[in-house]
Amino acid sequence: EKGGYDHFMLKEIFEQPKAISDCLRGRINSEDGTITLGGIEDVMDKLVNAKRVVIAACGTSWHSGLVGEYLFEYLAKVPVEVEYASEFRYKEPLIGEGDVMIAISQSGETADTLAALREAKARGALVLGVVNVVGSTIARETDAGVYIHAGPEIGVASTKAFTAQVTVLTMMAIKLGLEKGTITKTRATELITELSRIPAKIEEVLEDTTEIQRISNLFSYAPNFLYLGRSYSFPVALEGALKLKEISYIHAEGYPAAEMKHGPIALIDEMMPVVVIAATHHTNDKMISNIEEVRARKGRIIAISTSENTEVADLAEFTTIIPETMDVFSPLVSVIPLQLLSYYIAVNRGCNVDQPRNLAKSVTVE
Ligand code: F6R
Repeated sequence: EKGGYDHFMLKEIFEQPKAISDCLRGRINSEDGTITLGGIEDVMDKLVNAKRVVIAACGTSWHSGLVGEYLFEYLAKVPVEVEYASEFRYKEPLIGEGDVMIAISQSGETADTLAALREAKARGALVLGVVNVVGSTIARETDAGVYIHAGPEIGVASTKAFTAQVTVLTMMAIKLGLEKGTITKTRATELITELSRIPAKIEEVLEDTTEIQRISNLFSYAPNFLYLGRSYSFPVALEGALKLKEISYIHAEGYPAAEMKHGPIALIDEMMPVVVIAATHHTNDKMISNIEEVRARKGRIIAISTSENTEVADLAEFTTIIPETMDVFSPLVSVIPLQLLSYYIAVNRGCNVDQPRNLAKSVTVE
């Protein structure tokens, strides 16, 4: 059932090209630059007229929501707030008619996410689901939604659900942008064409994992890790840190790279591995300054970057090369080496990768 892989998590990491192809199938058309999302066609008018979008989720799904925030604001020019479902429900939320909530959940059973959507619905918002498990409670209780079609995710650490959620949010943002006229048809066609190439780019990362395994072997017993990213790579930094915490039991923190100098920089010494996600073009110069700051304090830099980005590779102690893509799609590719890093470190440490201590696949208690 693990298809020849040692763990479900590894199988699911390697399934991502297929999961994303399945997610895109029948929905994108790069010939005429259109996107069809059957589940939300009927509510598109409301989405187009939405004053704002509130995304509610927990854990990894919350991280994909953060990527969604960048995508929706950039492509569809709609204000987005991303809420921890648990916080949203207990704060007398300001949400109502004219607002749209997107509840993101792999399992479709997370208690806090369910409670948040019920709250939003009761206050008159339109509630959409981005869910994996067909027929789950969240899928049933939302007004409409888009399934991510990632297939069953068995490993407790979420991997393919994250990339498939981001894929759905990307399609929603492009579709909304097109309908609102915030992006042109030509631009949408370019985006859709590149989106259709993402599965092959992920495949490329998965084809050769030797460098990431070598890095994992060197840092398996580090007590702490820092993950830094900007823009689309910031949620990826959070996700990389969460993966490491949950399956390797190593303390890790993700930060927006510029926040480093407001505190965490004090942690950096020659013992501290710092994973730098340098995958977006428009923030590259700033990331290079951050790398220099870490270097000056002798931090051990593990960069995730593209082959064209020789400046980063020259500065970093280790670099994992990922294929070039547009900034908006970079999380789909840059998260893959981070999933693998946490996996190989957990295996080296003898951890129970598929069922980490204290964790359950779906958190149905509050
Ligand atoms: C992380 C992880 C959890 C879940 C979170 C939400 O790898 O598995 O953080 O992402 O519990 O679960 P869903 O998406 O099922 O609502």
